[in-house]
This record gives sequence, C-alpha cells and structure tokens, in this order.
Amino acid sequence: MLESLFSPLRVGPVELQNRIVSTAHQTTLVHEHLPTEDFVAYHEARARGGTGLIVLEATAVHPSGLLTPHTLAGYREDIVAGLTRVGEAVHGHGTRLFVQLFHGGREQISSPPRAPALAPSAIPSPRFHVEPRALSEEEIDSIVAGFARSAALAAKAGLDGVEISAAHEYLAAQFFTPGLNRRDDEWSEPARFLLTVLGAVRAAAPGLAVGVRLSADSEAAAAVLGEVASSVDYVSVALGGSSTYRGSTGIVPPPPVPENAIAAVTAPFGDGPPLVATSRIVDPVEADRLVADGRCDAAGMTRALITDPDLPRKAREGRLDDVLRCIGCNGCIAHYHAGTPIACAQNPRTGRERSMGPAARTAARRRIVVVGGGPAGLAAAAEAGSAGHEVVLLERGGQTGGQVALAGAAPMHAELARSLGRNYRHLLEAANVETRLETMADPETITALAPDAVVVATGARPHEPDLPLDGIEVVQAFDVLRGPSRGGRRVVVADWGGDASGLACADLLEAAGNDVTVALGSAAFGETLHQYQRNLYAARLYRAGVRLSHHLELVGADGGRVRFRNLFAPELESELSADLLVLALGRIPDRDLVESVAGAGLEVHEAGDCLGARGLEEAILEGTLAGQSV
Ligand SMILES: Cc1cc2nc3c(=O)[nH]c(=O)nc-3n(C[C@H](O)[C@H](O)[C@H](O)COP(=O)(O)O)c2cc1C
Ligand code: SF4
Repeated sequence: MLESLFSPLRVGPVELQNRIVSTAHQTTLVHEHLPTEDFVAYHEARARGGTGLIVLEATAVHPSGLLTPHTLAGYREDIVAGLTRVGEAVHGHGTRLFVQLFHGGREQISSPPRAPALAPSAIPSPRFHVEPRALSEEEIDSIVAGFARSAALAAKAGLDGVEISAAHEYLAAQFFTPGLNRRDDEWSEPARFLLTVLGAVRAAAPGLAVGVRLSADSEAAAAVLGEVASSVDYVSVALGGSSTYRGSTGIVPPPPVPENAIAAVTAPFGDGPPLVATSRIVDPVEADRLVADGRCDAAGMTRALITDPDLPRKAREGRLDDVLRCIGCNGCIAHYHAGTPIACAQNPRTGRERSMGPAARTAARRRIVVVGGGPAGLAAAAEAGSAGHEVVLLERGGQTGGQVALAGAAPMHAELARSLGRNYRHLLEAANVETRLETMADPETITALAPDAVVVATGARPHEPDLPLDGIEVVQAFDVLRGPSRGGRRVVVADWGGDASGLACADLLEAAGNDVTVALGSAAFGETLHQYQRNLYAARLYRAGVRLSHHLELVGADGGRVRFRNLFAPELESELSADLLVLALGRIPDRDLVESVAGAGLEVHEAGDCLGARGLEEAILEGTLAGQSV
C-alpha cells in the first residue's frame, strides 16, 4: 500500500526512509534564538510518527537576517547544543534532519528595535513596509560567510543536510528576481549570489546534503534553476512570495486553494535532482499518487504533519481513517504571525508534546453526557470516549459541527467544515460515542440519562443589538448561512469584523443574484481573519462585485435606509439603501442550559463558546480538556 510514498529516496549522501517531508516551518518554540525542549519534543513527535525528512525552520545565517525575535540564530556557536539535541531525538526514529538556512533581506517581520533591512537594492517592500538599503560588497561577503558558518555548525551538530532558502522572495530570490536587483556590480548577475552561497556551504560542510528551496510559481526561480541544479542534491518547491499581500497567501495557502495545488506547477523543476513538492498536500493517498505520477520525488506535508504527527505510520499501516486531517484553518501560521508557540486548532496536542500526551485509558468507566455537537462538544465526546468512558452526545440540530458546519455553506469554509466533520466522524466512531441528533437537552432529559458528569458545550448565538431597525427586513448572518438565499434584492451586510460570518454571507448573497454592500465596522477588512484567508476573501468579493464600505458603525434603519456613523468621526453620518439588512455583529454565549443544570446536583463541565464566544482553537482545546477532566 502506498508503495511510491514509502519507498526510500536518496538525497545526495543520505537516504530517506520514505518520501514524506516536514518542510521548514517556524514553531516559535525558540528562546533567545535557540531551540527549546518543547522544540525538541515537537520534532521528535513527527519523527516518531515516521516522517522521512524533517527540515528545521528558517534559521538566520547572520544577525542582519533575524526575521523575528523567535528566529533561530544558526550562525551562533551555541546553536550546536540545541541542534544536537534535536538530531539525537529524531535520528533514533530513522528520520533525517536538515536545517533551512535563511536570510530575509528586505522581508522583515520583527518589531522594534529592528536592524536596518538589507537587500540587493534599496527598493521598499510593500507588505511589511520595509525600506531596505543596498548591501555593500563587504556585507554580501559577510552574509555568504554566515551561510558557510551556519552550515559548518549544522554539520558539527550532526545534522544530515542544509537547505538554502531561495523561495518566497527572501534574500537569495531578491538577487535573481527582476526589478529587485538593480546593481551594476558583479552581484547584478541573477544567480551569482545563490551559486556563491552554495559553493561556500559545500566547502564548509562537505559531508552534508545540500538543497535549495524555490517558489514554483516564480518565473525567475524557474529561470535560475538550470544554473543551480548541478550544485544541489535536491530542490524543494513551494508557492508564494512574501513581499505582496496576494503573493503571501501562497506561502501557506488555505482552502479554497485546491488540494495538491503545487502539483500543477512542478513540471519545470522535475528534470534535475530529487524534487520535494509542498503546498496543500494533505492526503497520503494523493501524496503517493503525486510521487507515482512523477510530479515530485517526495511530498512536503507540512500542515498535514502539524495536525497529525503520526500520519506516516498510520498511512503505512493502512489506517487511513485514523489520520487526523488538516482542515486548512491556518491557525498554525496565525500563531507564528502572533509570535506565540505553534499550535493546531484541530489537534491541541501540537506544540504541547511535553504536557499533553495521548488520551489515557480510564480505570473507572463513567457515563458522560455531552450537550452540544459543535467543535467543543465533539472534542469533549471524542476525548472522553477514547479514554474508555461511555459517552452520549446530544445535539439539538440535525447535524453536528455547530458554527463550523454553518460556515461550511460558504465556499471559503466548505473544505474546513467537510474535513472537520470527517475527522470527528472517525474519532467518535473509534471512541464508541452515541450521537443523538435533534435532541433538546434540559435538566430533566439529562438527569434521565443518569450521567456521572455532564459537559455543556452549547455554543453561542448571534448578538441582537439594541438599535431601532424598522421598515426593513432584518436577518442574522447565521440565518443566511442556514440558507437557501434568494436573489434580486439590495442587501447591506453590517459586519463588525470579528469573524468571517458577514463576509461569508456577502459571498453567498451576491452569488444568489443580490446587489450586496458590506458595511465594515472595523478599521481593516477581515480584521480578525488570518491574513492569508483575508487576502483570498478580498479577492473573491472584489471579483464578485460586492461593494465594500469602510469604517461604518450601524446606528439604525428605517424605511429601506440603513444608517451609519463613521467609526472614527461619529458626527459623520451616512446611509445605504437596502431591502435586506444582514447582521454580523458578534455573538453571545448560549448559557441557558449551564444555568438550569447548575441546581440539578450534577457534575458539570463547560467548554467552548458557552463560556465566552471565541474561536475554533479554544473550542477544541477546552472540549479536549473537559473530556479529560470528567
Ligand atoms: C507555521 C508555519 C511556518 C512556516 N515557516 C516557513 C519557513 O520557516 N520556511 C519556509 O520555507 N517555509 C515556511 N512555511 C511554509 C511551509 O514550509 C510550507 O511550504 C507551507 O506550509 C505549505 O505546505 P503545506 O500545505 O504542506 O502546509 C511555514 C508554514 C507554516 C504553517
Ligand atoms: S492549525 Fe489548521 S491549518 Fe494549521 S495544521 Fe492545524 S488544522 Fe491545519
């Protein structure tokens, strides 16, 4: 089974036990630019799960290239001890370990005090608003020496290889990307910097495998490949570029970017050394097919492994239903952008490898009732059930999934809802959870089930503002998502910006033939969405013809006119004409049951939005913890 994926692959001096790769990704499990014990445990979990190759995260080769306060400093002698610890932890499982050597050039995320940004030429970078100065020749030499030194330190730590980051418009790519290199010295030659780095790295660490990462959707990268292919043992391709909003989305593309998106663009990179292809490969069967079809030699399955570190072992054993599938929510990269340790919304054990082990089998089986089939309730039921408790899950609606299932009506969230549903279908089945749909729970029905403990996960309901809304049809975003939508109306969506529900409604209502304006009640469009999802949403709504009106706070409606005031200058009032007003103004916790069971003498645990409306990550984390504590 999956023979192509599980055949070994030679990469220069090393052999990989299979073709599943955890590509470079920042974990923020880094303290003072060095790996922590949590970092070691995180990667060991992925090695134990059978990953063939782990490429450690973008690691700075020079003090001027520290992307954030949590970037590893590969040029420092004291990195050796930490890298050695990681190597010892993963090598015992047969996994090979490389590190990505990195300099961001004019791409700089860190907050003040920042080092001056350095680039081939002084050209401001629009996404992070960085204004670099042009590197002097001495500085270029110093950075090249930093690559060499970092490679030598990686070798000293016992790693198997290094990967030079030349993807995503970081420094090496800035040298070969037209328009970013306006030099008139020898470094104007596009491939010269990358070739010089590769030569220096080879000389400094002759025993290591050496690879290069390129963006497969960059024509400049494809053009440079011919010159560098003979200098590397493998090529790793991904998508995207850091300097623009739309380009950055490709770096960690969320759905609805199609599954296996990378496969469409690997062809120009396929003729040389072994090719690792990464981006939206989430299914081991698909990964095997891509290798078998020659689209790549190995599959980067980065978020797939962030979600389920045991994916390779489960797939090899044919336990495909047991694989916890990445739902594409981008919670992981949101943690990176927030500067907090890596986490996975779907799997709360990710990033907590040292504190949260697998569900322990209970010696004292109890009868547990979980009320609410949203993510928090599903997680609680799965966790308690897999510990061996007898679990009954009560859901008042006709399906589980809660707000995620609702959001799944919109194209931007359909895959997320499908994947989450699939994951919990298998988890609940494996944990022998009995699910009762269309079952209202109250203290009497719960008591009749004679539970030893109850988990209340009743979620949240829409906030209803205390505003005069007269002479116009008013609906909540949740009701639009419940569908179906009819067309032919002028629609105003009042979107407070705290979640995606307003944008999801705008998308659905425009597609149904309405004339839709979103009145944005936040400083920025999609303010609380992960930025890559926000970028996709903006593109989608602009293309659909949805109008976006900024900085509008709803104050009322009458006779087909919806009234607003400016968020910042409230004396500036405005109106939009509409037949239908959709409210997406936040949620309030649904606590009716919590309050009514409190007096019934039951052991009650609470989880998710009923405690306070928040996001998916909190819901699943709290559900899991509630499932553990029953
Ligand atoms: C949290 C996070 C951090 C990342 N950091 C890096 C990085 O340090 N260097 C890099 O080349 N790519 C980085 N990436 C991109 C991944 O290597 C990979 O190309 C991307 O996640 C798409 O692959 P996937 O669909 O398998 O997740 C990061 C991705 C994530 C999720
Ligand atoms: S946080 Fe979301 S996107 Fe990231 S690995 Fe987990 S499920 Fe996938």
